[in-house]
Amino acid sequence: MTTNTAGRLAGKIAVITGGTSGIGLATAQLFLKEGAKVIVTGQNEERLQQAATTLGSNAIPIRADVLDLANLDHLAEQIKATVGSFDTLFVNSGVARNAPFREVTVSAFDEEITINLKGVFFTVQKLEPLMKEGGSIVLNTTTLAQTAMVGESVYSATKAAVRSLTRSMSVEFLDRKIRVNAVAPGPIDTPIWSKMGLTQEAAQAVLQRTPIGRFGKPEEIAGVVLFLASDDSSFMLGEEILVDGGWATL
Ligand SMILES: NC(=O)c1ccc[n+]([C@@H]2O[C@H](COP(=O)([O-])OP(=O)(O)OC[C@H]3O[C@@H](n4cnc5c(N)ncnc54)[C@H](OP(=O)(O)O)[C@@H]3O)[C@@H](O)[C@H]2O)c1
Repeated sequence: MTTNTAGRLAGKIAVITGGTSGIGLATAQLFLKEGAKVIVTGQNEERLQQAATTLGSNAIPIRADVLDLANLDHLAEQIKATVGSFDTLFVNSGVARNAPFREVTVSAFDEEITINLKGVFFTVQKLEPLMKEGGSIVLNTTTLAQTAMVGESVYSATKAAVRSLTRSMSVEFLDRKIRVNAVAPGPIDTPIWSKMGLTQEAAQAVLQRTPIGRFGKPEEIAGVVLFLASDDSSFMLGEEILVDGGWATL
């Protein structure tokens, strides 16, 4: 590891869950550029190793599949053993399944809730004690928590719950001056859409519904996460910033 003394996160250590792909990977790259050391997590070993190669020696990859919550205890132990404590946590891991409301099975419901809600809750519960006083937590929600899209009922509900957690955690962590805020992306061009099996027609419909007329780039979310993670947002607590090309507002 090398020490970068310049940048808005100089000397800071950040943990980014789901840092192997899309928004999490772009955020890890930006945080490194801004002087932080980063720990990235993911569940897929191959993508984790690829991310480690891309990110270089100031990044530490740790495998932690949130589907098994016991992995979060292991993650906390690994973080403690490698860096001791840290400053910033971006809770970003998530999946988006696509199924009409009438066809959602109990097992699909349970899996999405476990990764997107229970996983977020217990990631913060296990890792917050390792954070330094005055640190910053950023949660990743979605514009769909404020609107709706066919086939995304479970996903949107999990993220609306995470938006609520942003407030609850904020009020409980006041004692350690740890700020909690959320970023709510609109449609961003990441692998999540192909994992959902989005057809060309569905992609076109998403585009037509987005006032700005294009998908966002992961870097356009990373910049906002950097703002929320850094002291630039020092007077913000329990807030959610929409970064959605006008989807929910216009
Ligand atoms: N892209 C969008 O349009 C959009 C819009 C609004 C909100 N978001 C949110 O942004 C976040 C990142 O998504 P993305 O678009 O960047 O998608 P992505 O490229 O698919 O990245 C998802 C990340 O989450 C990790 N992950 C998935 N399941 C996991 C599990 N069981 N345990 C641990 N890690 C797991 C993945 O790790 P592996 O690579 O190991 O699977 C990957 O690093 C998600 O929370 C998503 O809901 C995305």
